[in-house]
Amino acid sequence: MTTFGCQMNAHDSERIKGMLEELGLGEAPSKGEADVLVFNTCTIREKPDTKFAAYMGEAAARKRERPEMIIAVGGCYAEAQRERLFSLYPDVDVAFGPGTIPHLAEWLGAGGFGVERGVWGTGEERKFAATLPMHRERRFQAWVQISMGCNSTCSYCIVPAVRGREVSRRPGDVLAEVTHLAQQGVRELTLLGQNVNSWGRDLLPEIHTEFGELLRACDAVDGIDRIRFTSPHPKDFRRPVIEAMAECAAVCEHAHLPLQSGSTRILKAMRRTYSRERYLKLVGELRAGIPDLALTTDIIVGFPGETEADFRETMEVVEEVAFDGAFTFVYSPRAGTDAAVMPDQVPDEIKRDRIDRLVRLVQRLAAERNELRVGRVEEVLVEGPSRTDPSVLRGRTRRNTTVNFVGAAAPGDFVDVLIERATSTTLGGSQAAVAVA
Ligand code: SAH
Ligand code: SF4
Ligand code: F3S
Repeated sequence: MTTFGCQMNAHDSERIKGMLEELGLGEAPSKGEADVLVFNTCTIREKPDTKFAAYMGEAAARKRERPEMIIAVGGCYAEAQRERLFSLYPDVDVAFGPGTIPHLAEWLGAGGFGVERGVWGTGEERKFAATLPMHRERRFQAWVQISMGCNSTCSYCIVPAVRGREVSRRPGDVLAEVTHLAQQGVRELTLLGQNVNSWGRDLLPEIHTEFGELLRACDAVDGIDRIRFTSPHPKDFRRPVIEAMAECAAVCEHAHLPLQSGSTRILKAMRRTYSRERYLKLVGELRAGIPDLALTTDIIVGFPGETEADFRETMEVVEEVAFDGAFTFVYSPRAGTDAAVMPDQVPDEIKRDRIDRLVRLVQRLAAERNELRVGRVEEVLVEGPSRTDPSVLRGRTRRNTTVNFVGAAAPGDFVDVLIERATSTTLGGSQAAVAVA
């Protein structure tokens, strides 16, 4: 199984794995030995499309040697290419969209006969994958899907076309899952939605609720020590959400607040529905309400019509906010979106130059922010050994920074770590002495 794309896709893959395990299909020791190859695809930018093409080339060669092997393709690229997928990739046996994951089990369960090869859907037929069994990587961390789809119309973005209109899961269903996870030993939750903090709006008039209330309800579940959520939209970051973040002990001091651009003119063309000033005001409110808050963001450079002056405004906002981290992207035209056909597409070399300048600024500011943590003791949830040195442990702080540290602890433990070093992306330190009463 190969997964591309965002956390929603990674979580969908947990459901796909769980579903296949129920059919008696466990993870094969190697790709060469697999009976079924599953690709959960992404199409947010051109890069994941080309990456998938390369993987498919390899899979097709393998299938020529073992024609009985099944190739299944799910996810956002499959959905976006629903008309063309089987002609683009004739070796694909079965395809499904992000809203129709159970179809894969139906198809395999029926031995591939009697059920259609492709099932798509951005409308009524979509189902929450949350009703499926789930295969999680770590027993103490879990993703919880609270909504699917997105009602925004950002002019560069393919997500609404492939994931459909927003549908919120009912609060009772979310809480039942959270309670069950806590009973299984989960300590850290990440609530997931394309627009996570607009959750609840479509449940009106039957259920009157909002995202802040959901945070409070999750916070009240016994055993849950950390709550994260992604991705929120600045337009839906209302006062009740900020208050809930400030008041709930389990909700972590971190907000991912996608900026996209610092130029109001570009934000308007992107249809983000906030201005530079409103974004900065929100940052001020968040920092005033939640002490020690970490802020991360997403930024796109080279959106059609972006001038040097627009780009400088983005650099100014980044400098002013001083983000703890940022995902930076070169604008990539997506067929079917409004921005793809806008005039004044920015030439590649200008996009390259801008992303280089932006990345350098982001790294400098993040390094400075992390430097401020040196000398402090941070609570770290241990995730496992360091990726580069197995004698060192790795975990994350409440502010979501990775820490590599020397100590004696097991995955799932919460430990206090004295921070001794910092880079732009990680902290280093050693486990603080445990006080004995
Ligand atoms: N629902 C989330 C995530 C969307 S995709 C949200 O709204 O924040 C993650 C990021 O990819 C976006 O925030 C945006 O910065 C980037 N992105 C989306 N479409 C893009 C495109 N066509 N070109 C470049 N970056 C894009
Ligand atoms: Fe895409 Fe905008 Fe929806 Fe995010 S809010 S998924 S960027 S349309
Ligand atoms: Fe990609 Fe789909 Fe996520 S396009 S970023 S996998 S919602």
